[in-house]
Amino acid sequence: MRKALVIGNWKMNGRLAANEALLNGLSSGAECLSDDVEVAVCPPSVYIAQAASLLQKSSIGVGAQNIATQASGAFTGEVSAEMLTDFGCEWVIAGHSERRSLYGESDQDVALKVAKAVESGIVPVICVGETLEEREAGQALARVRSQLEAALAQLEGDQLASIVVAYEPVWAIGTGLTATPDQAQEVHQVLRQALNECQVDLGDKVRILYGGSVNAANADSLFAQPDIDGGLIGGASLKVDDFLAICRAAA
Ligand code: G3H
Repeated sequence: MRKALVIGNWKMNGRLAANEALLNGLSSGAECLSDDVEVAVCPPSVYIAQAASLLQKSSIGVGAQNIATQASGAFTGEVSAEMLTDFGCEWVIAGHSERRSLYGESDQDVALKVAKAVESGIVPVICVGETLEEREAGQALARVRSQLEAALAQLEGDQLASIVVAYEPVWAIGTGLTATPDQAQEVHQVLRQALNECQVDLGDKVRILYGGSVNAANADSLFAQPDIDGGLIGGASLKVDDFLAICRAAA
C-alpha cells in the first residue's frame, strides 16, 4: 500500500517573515492531519534551515528544489547533497519543467541529479510532463515515458524504489488549467506500467504525484484516481489553509 504524499514546491517565493507565518501555520495544522498522508515543503535553498527549524516538532518534512551533481568544489552557485542533508532535507525535486526549460537541464542532467540524491539518502521527486504542443500531437504518453526512463538510467537494484515520480503537464503549471482526473489518471497508469517494466513490482511501490494547478477545490477528484498518490503543489502551497486542505484531500 502506497502512503499518500503531498509536497509543496515554493519555487522562488518567500521572505523570512512570511515563511515564519506559513511554517507555523502548517506546523499547527499538521497536528490534525491523518497519519495516512505524508507532507513536505521545498523552500528556496536559503530558507531550508529556517523551515527545518520551525518544522522541527512537526510531522512535515523538508526538501530542496535542486541538487548539485558534484560532491563539492569549484561549482559557484550550486548546493551539494551533503549540504542538504546537513539541514535535514529528505527530498529533492529533480527535472522540474522550469529547470528543464529555463536552465537547460537535459534528461542526462536529471539522471545524474537523481543518482546523486539516491546515493545520499535523499528521495528525488522526478518530474516529467509534456508540453501543450506534444499533447496536441498525441505524443504525451511517449514523452513522459522517455523522460522517466532517462531519469532512472543511473539507478540499479533497490535504488529504483527510492524515488517518487511527479507527473506535471507543462501546460497545467501555474496556468489554472488542471488536467482532468481522467487525463491525469491515463498518464499515471502509463508511468506505473513503465516502472513495472523497469523492475518487477516497482510500479506498486513508487508513489506518483500529480502537479499542475492543484487547489483545494480540485484536489479531491484528482486524488480519487487509483494511480494518483498525492500532489506536487506550487502556488497553493504558499497558503496555509489551501495547502492543508489539499493534504486532507490526499489522506
Ligand atoms: O512543482 C509544482 C508545480 O510546478 C505546480 O505548480 O501548482 O503553481 O501549478 P502550480
